[in-house]
Amino acid sequence: MNLAFLILHLFTFLQFVISAPATSKTSPLAPAPTSSSLATCNGHASLCNVSYANVVYAGAHNSYAYGDGISDNQYSNISDGLVKGIRLMQAQGHDYPTNETTNPSGISLCHTSCYLEDGGSLESWLLQARNWLNANPREVLTILVTNPDSVNVTRWQKGFEYAGFNSTNVFSPSSQHTSRNDWPTLGQLIDSGKRTIAIMDYGANFTQLPWLIEEFSNIWENPYDQLTLPFNCSVDRGTKNDNLAFHNHVKDLSYLGISTPDKDDLTMVNAAVNNSNAIVPTVQRCTIETGVRPTYVMVDFYDIPSQNNIFSAVDMLNNVSTTPPTKEGKSAAPRLQSSLSFQLSLIICIILSIAVMTL
Ligand SMILES: *[C@@H]1O[C@H](CO)[C@@H](O)[C@H](O)[C@H]1NC(C)=O
Ligand SMILES: *[C@@H]1O[C@H](CO)[C@@H](O)[C@H](O)[C@H]1NC(C)=O
Ligand SMILES: *[C@@H]1O[C@H](CO)[C@@H](O)[C@H](O)[C@H]1NC(C)=O
Ligand SMILES: *[C@@H]1O[C@H](CO)[C@@H](O)[C@H](O)[C@H]1NC(C)=O
Ligand SMILES: *[C@@H]1O[C@H](CO)[C@@H](O)[C@H](O)[C@H]1NC(C)=O
Ligand SMILES: *[C@@H]1O[C@H](CO)[C@@H](O)[C@H](O)[C@H]1NC(C)=O
Ligand SMILES: *[C@@H]1O[C@H](CO)[C@@H](O)[C@H](O)[C@H]1NC(C)=O
Ligand SMILES: *[C@@H]1O[C@H](CO)[C@@H](O)[C@H](O)[C@H]1NC(C)=O
Ligand SMILES: *[C@@H]1O[C@H](CO)[C@@H](O)[C@H](O)[C@H]1NC(C)=O
Repeated sequence: MNLAFLILHLFTFLQFVISAPATSKTSPLAPAPTSSSLATCNGHASLCNVSYANVVYAGAHNSYAYGDGISDNQYSNISDGLVKGIRLMQAQGHDYPTNETTNPSGISLCHTSCYLEDGGSLESWLLQARNWLNANPREVLTILVTNPDSVNVTRWQKGFEYAGFNSTNVFSPSSQHTSRNDWPTLGQLIDSGKRTIAIMDYGANFTQLPWLIEEFSNIWENPYDQLTLPFNCSVDRGTKNDNLAFHNHVKDLSYLGISTPDKDDLTMVNAAVNNSNAIVPTVQRCTIETGVRPTYVMVDFYDIPSQNNIFSAVDMLNNVSTTPPTKEGKSAAPRLQSSLSFQLSLIICIILSIAVMTL
């Protein structure tokens, strides 16, 4: 009886001793109090210590233009996209004021023209992101806006601020250009509270508004709205330097010179792996051809197909399991660690008890 008691204590002690160093080794960004070994970053503990530049984000092209219309690029709204795994939301902003109270920027999200497709105000789109970020405190989100009407940055700022985005929660780089190697890790972004990366293609001004990042000082893109396959990986806008790569994975058709999404090829090009034009094989080919792994992959109609889709693709590219993490944010790694230490303690105990009993 005494022996059993002793063995039980020994077992508990050994489990503690064996699991302690293993847990601290897997703990990302140990100094910050919020980053316990159970904390996750964009759903996975293994991503906390990875640079923002080295994670791959699933992007939604014209994420406000959803529905069945000819100029729609998505079937679902951005709130739905964020829940499913979109981490880069893109929109085209036009000089089209609607309501001074609810649209202080005077910017509306339209496709080519606001008469063709009015996807609502910049503010209503940003508010969906704000609500989702508030409800998901360990997620990093990138917002990319394009500025074809050269709207003044002050007006963009008004729209972002109305929706609760400002210098306290949007990441401000230290200079107009950030080298690929200098981006913070996801854990650092989350712990700083600056979990939004806001980017604009043309017309940003680092002196005036450092947190609205100028796209082509930091990112280059392959050609957008491509009409032929396989996808072209070459630098189209921006320069390579030590910048981040943005992979446009959007296949269009041309009707009388007007490009529209090619819906017939969607299940092929939006699949994660099952054909040569699918996302993972294309990203791998582009990485080899250009020497740069894309940080962003953007598609039309992200919810097609429903399986083996862009979300599985980015999980594969990020080396994480597709299984959604649990509510507590536990990842597979610490669980494996503790079960290993449990088994190890058990084996040592059995050996010791056999040794004691044979004495
Ligand atoms: C984070 O990664 C860096 C190198 O990228 C490494 O030196 C460091 O030990 C890692 N930290 C943790 C807590 O894993
Ligand atoms: C987005 O779509 C979902 C699913 O259809 C719906 O429940 C939700 O109300 C929509 N949200 C907004 C802000 O439109
Ligand atoms: C602007 O929006 C506010 C708040 O929703 C509303 O009360 C007001 O009537 C709108 N004004 C116009 C001109 O539509
Ligand atoms: C943008 O607006 C601000 C404030 O109204 C003004 O000071 C600035 O000169 C404008 N910038 C450009 C590029 O027009
Ligand atoms: C920034 O936005 C948050 C809401 O997201 C708000 O609580 C805070 O007061 C704002 N800060 C400034 C300096 O405007
Ligand atoms: C950027 O903003 C600064 C400060 O407001 C201003 O002096 C400068 O002219 C602006 N640059 C451009 C290109 O608009
Ligand atoms: C690929 O895109 C680049 C950059 O836009 C262009 O110069 C090149 O001709 C394209 N290649 C093909 C095969 O279309
Ligand atoms: C796999 O690719 C083919 C085209 O090669 C496509 O028709 C099919 O729907 C894809 N299957 C899945 C599950 O994505
Ligand atoms: C995933 O693994 C690949 C290949 O080893 C590597 O290049 C990439 O940086 C890894 N990605 C992450 C997010 O760890």
